[in-house]
Amino acid sequence: MQGKFTKDKNIYRKSFLIVFGILLAIALIGSLITARNLPKGLSQIAKKHNLKIGTAVSSWQLDDPQFASVLIRNFNLITPENEMKFELLSPAPGEYDFSGADKIIAFAKKHGISVRGHTLVWTNQLPKWLVNGNFSRDELIIILHNHIDTVVSHYRGQVSYWDVVNESLAPDGSISQDNFWMQHIGPEYIELAFRWAHEADPNALLFYNEANAEGKGLKADGLFMLANMLITQGIPLHGIGFEMHTGLGWSPKPDELAINIQRLADLGLEIHITEMDVRIIEPASLEDLYEQAKIYAEIVQTCLDATNCTAYSTWGLTDTLSWIPHIYPGTGSPLLFYGDYTPKPAYYAIQKVLEIK
Ligand code: XIL
Repeated sequence: MQGKFTKDKNIYRKSFLIVFGILLAIALIGSLITARNLPKGLSQIAKKHNLKIGTAVSSWQLDDPQFASVLIRNFNLITPENEMKFELLSPAPGEYDFSGADKIIAFAKKHGISVRGHTLVWTNQLPKWLVNGNFSRDELIIILHNHIDTVVSHYRGQVSYWDVVNESLAPDGSISQDNFWMQHIGPEYIELAFRWAHEADPNALLFYNEANAEGKGLKADGLFMLANMLITQGIPLHGIGFEMHTGLGWSPKPDELAINIQRLADLGLEIHITEMDVRIIEPASLEDLYEQAKIYAEIVQTCLDATNCTAYSTWGLTDTLSWIPHIYPGTGSPLLFYGDYTPKPAYYAIQKVLEIK
C-alpha cells in the first residue's frame, strides 16, 4: 500500500514537471516572438542619429507601472520637472532634501537613462527663506555658490547635463532686471554659476536654457550675444537648451530655427530641445491634433538636420500630466500621449521622421 502510494506520487511529480516544462517553453517562445514584433520605441529608433529622446518626470509618476513602461520604451533621457529646483531641494537655509530627485536618479540608473539636471539658477521656484531673507549681496553670492556646489557635487557623475542658468533674458534680449539674482548680485551671476558648476563636476555638460528664443527675433539675438560673450571669456558653457513651448499657429519657423542652431554651432555649442509642448485651444479637434503632429515633426526634422542638435525632449509624458492646462487655462492636449498612454498623431509623426532619415 505504502509502495504503491510512493510510486503514484513519483508519476504524478514527473508528469507535473513535464507539463510545467512545456508550458514554460511556450511562454518563453511567445514572449520572444512578441518582443521581436513590438515596434521600436522612439529612443531606440533615434539611436542611429545619435539623438537622445527625453521627457520631464516627477518621482511619484514612476510608481505607475504603465507610466514607467511607456517611459522606458520611448525615452533615454529624463529631466526632473520640478524636484531639482531650489525650492524643492532646500526647505531651510543650508538644509537639503534630495529624496525626490534621488528617486528619479535611481530609476534612470536602473534603466540606462541619462539625466538632464534642471535647474540650478532661476528666478522662479525659489525657497521663501531665500526670497524673504533680506540677505546682502555677499551673502547671496555665498548662498548661490553653496547651492550649486552642494547639488552638483551630490549628483557628480550621475547627471550628464545641467541647465545651469534658466531663463535669464527679457523679451528684448537683454539680461532681465525682473530676476532675483540680477537684482541682488548683478549680471555676473550668470558666469559665476557656470564656473562653480564646472568646479563641482568637470565632466558634466553645462547648458544655458531659454524660452522663446528658438526662432528669429530680439530674444534669440540676445541669447546668441550672451553665449558668444561667455565663450569668448572662456566660461565653461557647452550647450544651449531651447525650451520650445509652442502652440498651434505660433511655433518657430524651421528655417529660422535652423539658422539659429547653426550660428550657435559655429560657437562650438551643442543644442538640446529641452521642454517641447504644443498647446491647443480646447477642445482639440482631430484636425488640430494633425496640425500639432506637423509642428512636432518639423522641429524633430530640423534638429536631425543639424549636426549639433543632440537631444530632443518633451515637457511631460501624457496630456493629463502636463503643466499647460494649469498655467494656461482653456488650452491643453500638448504632448505625445493621451491620458491613457495611447500615442497621439504627434507621436507617430516623430516616429516617421526618425525612421526615414
Ligand atoms: C514648470 C513645471 O512644469 C510646473 O509643474 C511648475 O509648477 C512650474 O514650472 N520653463 C521651465 C520649467 O524651465 O522649469 C517650467 O516647469 C516650465 C517653463
